[in-house]
Amino acid sequence: MSMDASTERKLLEHARVVSNERVAEGVGLIVLESPRVAHAVKPGQFVHLRIEQGASFLLRRPFSIHRVVGDRLQILYQVLGEGTRALAGKERGAEMDLIGPLGTGWFVPEGTAHALLVAGGLGAAPLGMLVEALALRGIAVTVAQGAPTTERLVARELFEATARRVEISTDDGSAGERGFVTALVERLIAADRPDVVYVCGPEAMTRIVARQALAAGVACQVSLERLMACGIGACLSCVVATVDGQKRACVDGPAFDAADVLWDASEIPPKH
Ligand SMILES: Cc1cc2nc3c(=O)[nH]c(=O)nc-3n(C[C@H](O)[C@H](O)[C@H](O)COP(=O)(O)OP(=O)(O)OC[C@H]3O[C@@H](n4cnc5c(N)ncnc54)[C@H](O)[C@@H]3O)c2cc1C
Ligand code: FES
Repeated sequence: MSMDASTERKLLEHARVVSNERVAEGVGLIVLESPRVAHAVKPGQFVHLRIEQGASFLLRRPFSIHRVVGDRLQILYQVLGEGTRALAGKERGAEMDLIGPLGTGWFVPEGTAHALLVAGGLGAAPLGMLVEALALRGIAVTVAQGAPTTERLVARELFEATARRVEISTDDGSAGERGFVTALVERLIAADRPDVVYVCGPEAMTRIVARQALAAGVACQVSLERLMACGIGACLSCVVATVDGQKRACVDGPAFDAADVLWDASEIPPKH
């Protein structure tokens, strides 16, 4: 057996669908019974799902773990193409195999007392476990969440139940402030300075927030999405350019220190 096959085998788990429901237009929440991963996963890590068998599904699809409850993983997914359409059709009792947990997850710097989490659209997905873990450690959390419209503010209830403060922006003004979340971030950093900023969302937004945090001298971690074929560091399809050379998002990330990322040299992934 090759090294990659043996790595994959060690990380493999057969997961069973517990529930799968629409939570917003084009967005679903699937709950998978997956005890080994559920007990090992850390905030910011992901799984690589084989949604179906067959030629279109030879490549697994990567998804962040949104939350863990007991033996169960919660995954928030946006329906985009063949894989996520098939995922939306999965019913209770269906089985899928996955490998995980993958990636390094978010890093919490020593001495953090206040964290600002910035979620753009489905970028809320990998911040669910993080908000819960930070709150459990007694760290004050502010969330800045942005979406096109109120219905797309996924995980808003979780943030409101767990964070000390939640600020919202929507493009159409249907909830919170009208406009982009970056405007909220600018004010929040100035008025209620965090020790660290965590960002996940469209890459253009992520870059702006990283610049805002770094300009204010605040540490910042960004979760970067790249095309991923193997998910275990073997294929180099997921590289991110950093000050320390090319890194693989699947094993060195997907969370990176924003100060290390060479943004202009890093490929901008397709817009979701
Ligand atoms: C670490 C990581 C975590 C992610 N977490 C989530 C999440 O929690 N929720 C969520 O909805 N999406 C997440 N994504 C994106 C998700 O993997 C893609 O949207 C999904 O693979 C699309 O599959 P598809 O077959 O429906 O689309 P396709 O028809 O295959 O493609 C539709 C779009 O998705 C992109 N895509 C396809 N395969 C991949 C891949 N292997 N990696 C990245 N992008 C891909 C394509 O470039 C295209 O733009 C994550 C991606 C990464 C890298
Ligand atoms: S997906 Fe293969 S190296 Fe990252």
